[in-house]
Order: sequence, then C-alpha cells, then structure tokens
Amino acid sequence: MAFWHKKPKPAAGEGLDPSRLPRHVAIIMDGNGRWAKKRGLPRTAGHAAGAETFRTIAYRCRDLGIPYLTVYAFSTENWKRPVEEVSAIMDLLRKYLAEALEKMERDGFRIKFFGDLAALTPELRQLCLETEETGQGVAGAKYQINVCLNYGGRDEILRAAKSWARDVLAGRQQVEELTDEVFSRYLDSRGVPDPDLIIRPSGELRLSNFLPWQAAYAEFYFTDVLWPDFSPGVLDEALADFQRRQRRFGGV
Ligand code: IPE
Ligand code: IPE
Ligand code: MG
Repeated sequence: MAFWHKKPKPAAGEGLDPSRLPRHVAIIMDGNGRWAKKRGLPRTAGHAAGAETFRTIAYRCRDLGIPYLTVYAFSTENWKRPVEEVSAIMDLLRKYLAEALEKMERDGFRIKFFGDLAALTPELRQLCLETEETGQGVAGAKYQINVCLNYGGRDEILRAAKSWARDVLAGRQQVEELTDEVFSRYLDSRGVPDPDLIIRPSGELRLSNFLPWQAAYAEFYFTDVLWPDFSPGVLDEALADFQRRQRRFGGV
C-alpha cells in the first residue's frame, strides 16, 4: 500500500492549545476587490470568493470549539460603492443566509446581526430576522456567528446612547447609575463577550469603524493575505500567534 508519499492532512488546530483558544474571534473580511483585480475579474467575483471563504472559516471556528465568531460583512460606509457592487453583496448575503437558515439546526449554530437593519430591503431584513429567530430555537447551540451588516461602530454607539437616553427620560435608567456594563447592554453586541482576537487580512492596518467599543482590550492580528485566500491554515497561524501573547488588561 503506497500511502507513505501522501502527507497526512493536519488536524484542525494542530499545534494549538485547546485550553487557550479565544472565546471570541472577530474578522474584518477585507481584500475581495484586490483579489479579483489581480485575476482580471470584476470586483463582484472577489465578493463571491470571499463569501466561500466565510463559510469555510465559520465551520473551522466551530470545529475548533470557538464559541463566538463576528464578521464584518458590510459597513455603514460601504454604501458609497457603486450600486451594482452593493447589490451583488446583498445578493450574496441573501444566498448565504438562506443556506445558513437551512443548516443551523443540523450544524448547531446560531446567527445574530450587528448593525442597523432598517436600511436593508424589507426582504433581506425579513430574512435576517427569521435567521435570528430560528437561531434562538437551536437547542444547545454552542456556536454563535455575529454578522455585521450595515454596521458602524460609531453608529452602534449612537443608537445605544439614544436608546439609553430614552430610558432615562422614561425613568427606567438613572444617569448616575450608568456603567460600562449597563451601557454594553444597549449595544448590538449585548450578551456577547468582547472579542479576544481581531483579525484583519489584506494588509490594511486599521479598524475601519469595526467594534471600537468592544475592541478595548482585543489582541490584533494583521496579515497581507487577501480574504478570498484566507485558509484554515492562516486562521491557525493567527490563533497560534494569539496563544503566544501575554494579556495584562492593565495589570502586571
Ligand atoms: C471587503 O473587500 C468586502 C467589503 C467591504 C464588503 P473589499 O471590497 O473592501 O476589497 P478591497 O479592499 O477593495 O480589496
Ligand atoms: C471594512 O473594509 C468593511 C468590511 C470589510 C465589510 P473596507 O474595505 O470598507 O475598509 P476601508 O475603506 O479600507 O477602510
Ligand atoms: Mg477593502
């Protein structure tokens, strides 16, 4: 049996310490346009490839036992793009959400959305709400994906501030009792622990309005790999790097 020439496929997360994995990984899925340009393809082809990568990486995180994955899919600033590109992205979202909706029960995960869904088409908004609702019903789901859609960190904080102020006016909150724990309950991320690790591919070294409140003590991992080329191996490298960090949270 000539099996020795075959390199065994490394198991998910080989070399990683399973007891020191992040609880929450957040990813800025960037570089789709440049990936397509390099190949002489339209930018929309890059988004299609990036959506496939999202599926692969989402399952990889689940298989590793990471309880929360947050992905930046569309920012409040991305509306500045050509209308054809925006609608291609929305079509992809529709397609992948419909698929997730079908599989979440079987595969044991749930999906939540961060961002202002009010600006979406009624059809897509409905699909998002249905996806969230179905996810709530997945008994014993140990894995949650948060999709940032029409998300901007400043917008999230402003919406939270308005809603807290309304509660103050209605007598449900006291100004003196505002703490970061109380305020966190008004954010889209309520109930979700802060990200431990934020990954940005594509070589850009910025947050681009991604989770500014929640990122206060996150570790960052930047790589030049473009999102459509981001593989489970690259994720493992990011996780291995994370495990070498010493987090102090202001202590010694
Ligand atoms: C990220 O890829 C996807 C979205 C922002 C929706 P880009 O489309 O920003 O790709 P680049 O940065 O232009 O390469
Ligand atoms: C951030 O990427 C938004 C998403 C990945 C959805 P952008 O490509 O929009 O960010 P900038 O413009 O490079 O800062
Ligand atoms: Mg970009």
